Amino acid sequence: MTARIIGIGAYAPETIVTNEDLSKIVETSDEWIRSRTGIRERRISTQEGTSDLAAKAARKALANAGVRPEELDIIILGTSSPDCNYPSDACTVQAAIGAVNAVAFDISAACAGFIFALNIVQGFFAAGIYKTALIIGAETLSKVTDWSDRGTCVLFGDGAGAAVLQAAETGVIDMTMGSDGTKGSALACTSRTLGNFLTGTKPELGFMTMDGREVFSFAVRKIPESVEYLLEKTGTSREEIKYYVLHQANERIVEAAARRLKEPMSKFPMTIGKYGNTSTASIPLLLDDMVRQDMLKPGDKILLSGFGAGMTWGAVLMEWTLGA
Ligand code: ACO
Repeated sequence: MTARIIGIGAYAPETIVTNEDLSKIVETSDEWIRSRTGIRERRISTQEGTSDLAAKAARKALANAGVRPEELDIIILGTSSPDCNYPSDACTVQAAIGAVNAVAFDISAACAGFIFALNIVQGFFAAGIYKTALIIGAETLSKVTDWSDRGTCVLFGDGAGAAVLQAAETGVIDMTMGSDGTKGSALACTSRTLGNFLTGTKPELGFMTMDGREVFSFAVRKIPESVEYLLEKTGTSREEIKYYVLHQANERIVEAAARRLKEPMSKFPMTIGKYGNTSTASIPLLLDDMVRQDMLKPGDKILLSGFGAGMTWGAVLMEWTLGA
């Protein structure tokens, strides 16, 4: 048994923040941001938390799948900007949608979170433990963004995407995951990291910090590496792959990966321009966009690939089944 996607849904907050808007609060320009990243605008949450966005995406995915919340066995939510330390956002979503029979928990794998969630579910299905799952990638990175740091604040956006999965004979073909904790400082968000028992100090809330060049070179190495590993392992040719659905961190990263894989840009759909980097949410947001544009047909082979803080990376080769 493997996992097949039977429903997709996404939600992004209504407030649009353009590059022009950002140039009023930090020393930057639309030209700089577009040429370095491909980002034109991003959605920013003003009132909603990560679990609110997640629940909205989840309801759409369930409606798309024709699955009732009580039919779910498991909910896994990937996020690096949860509403609080606990309860988990997955449990909050469980309550919001009424998934009374599901076990629910969050995972922290940054921008690779949706891939990791998919792979965990696939493992449960293969072992015959669960049959119906909801996975969600959701972020309100705007709350951990330092809005005075032009090096990071222009990159990120808020949003959520979700998929309903069912145990089936076809769907995920194979997957890979990895992590390298020695590169953890390249992209980090520290908060409440020191105990205050003896010092009595108030814990400080940290903002996200990033070594952009380190992340860039890591990504353009790891994406082709994991894609090629899966193609070789499964005996799949490049011609068989209809689309590469990559984490939307930066247009230049996607272009560099395409060059290294010697594949045309037409096989690399993108939503980075309108959403920015939404971390865990970017792959399901992109899949939802592709479904709404009718780009995917049952039987198409697609390759998903994500990478992120940790550092973490993962890829999934799957046969598209939605609409079958
Ligand atoms: N506007 C204008 N100038 C800027 C801005 C900005 N928003 N940000 C940085 N600069 C300046 C810098 O201060 C620097 O100026 P200096 O030469 O006077 O010192 C100059 O631009 C070049 O800065 P770099 O950081 O070297 O710029 P670079 O060309 O490397 O682009 C970027 C930065 C876009 C972040 C790039 O490194 C990158 O794409 N990195 C990948 C990281 C990424 O995508 N992270 C997303 C999160 S990771 C994830 O999702 C897993």
